[in-house]
Amino acid sequence: MQDRNDAAASHVLDRVLVLEMVRVTEAAAIAASGLIGRGDEKAADAAAVEAMRRAFDILTIDGTVVIGEGERDEAPMLYIGEKVGGAPGTGPRIDIALDPLEGTTITAKAGPNALAVLAAAEEGCLLNAPDVYMEKLAVGPGYPPDVISLDKSVRENVEAVARAKGVAPHEIIVCVLDRPRHAELIGELRAIGCGIQLIPDGDVAGVIATTDEDTTIDLYMGSGGAPEGVLAAAALRCVGGQFNGRLLFRNDNERSRARKWGIEELDRIYRLEDLAKGDCIFAATGVTDGSLLEGVKRRRGGTMTTESVVMRASTGTVRWVRTEHRVG
Ligand code: FBP
Repeated sequence: MQDRNDAAASHVLDRVLVLEMVRVTEAAAIAASGLIGRGDEKAADAAAVEAMRRAFDILTIDGTVVIGEGERDEAPMLYIGEKVGGAPGTGPRIDIALDPLEGTTITAKAGPNALAVLAAAEEGCLLNAPDVYMEKLAVGPGYPPDVISLDKSVRENVEAVARAKGVAPHEIIVCVLDRPRHAELIGELRAIGCGIQLIPDGDVAGVIATTDEDTTIDLYMGSGGAPEGVLAAAALRCVGGQFNGRLLFRNDNERSRARKWGIEELDRIYRLEDLAKGDCIFAATGVTDGSLLEGVKRRRGGTMTTESVVMRASTGTVRWVRTEHRVG
């Protein structure tokens, strides 16, 4: 069967690559799973990073990390600008945004929703977001264009989504990262009477939750990491939904870091296509159980199971992959 949108499909992002990307997130999730609940965030992250790095090298790609573990001098592996893949100079040139362990604290505490995630796109198609905060606003698919906007107030956004959904504003459920900086936002939502799902960490899963009616989450609001914003936007590009993101700067150092990455208009509102354009692939494997995916499970008899999702923007295909791995 032909892809439903072959014209928009990138020939650089070969179809085979879609499933290969799952191998990469699986490897990172399995490595991190040995450290679930062990109270050591750094060790869990390091295990995921190393496994992801190794898994990339088996792929026939000429990849460049555009969102990774930090700048070259602060990250030993999967740093921004690092070349990955087993075919440098010959394979398809692909930009990669990754987070080998999204939710390091969650993993250390055995909480919900830790993921190994990545997004891949043709060279130049993913925003090289600096490691600063981003104000985020997201809603799932099925709403009229521009139903949400960071230019509107919290109340206006909730009312617009409620109107489009055909419910009262107080029936809207909003997912927010549980942080003191969100006290005002939470106060405004409480004044409307919204349901608030406070999450301890992991806003990639929080944003994606808006796309799945079973989670009951209608909106995602609040600030989190800008790199995570690009990853979440790549996922929404594949499954539908709307996203607004605005970079937040706490000091001049952060502003100059953004300029270094080529960002001129510091207060710009980014939409999905500004963060992840063209065809792109998003892959995630659950590390701990969560709203999106089951976590890694060690089974009796020397096997492990992983659950992953992989999606492609040009086709809108979403594949759920449950894998049994032989270990030992
Ligand atoms: P880590 O996996 O790097 O710990 O990130 C988890 C996370 O909760 C992200 O999902 C989110 O974008 C960011 O941290 C929020 O940052 P902060 O903890 O500073 O509020």
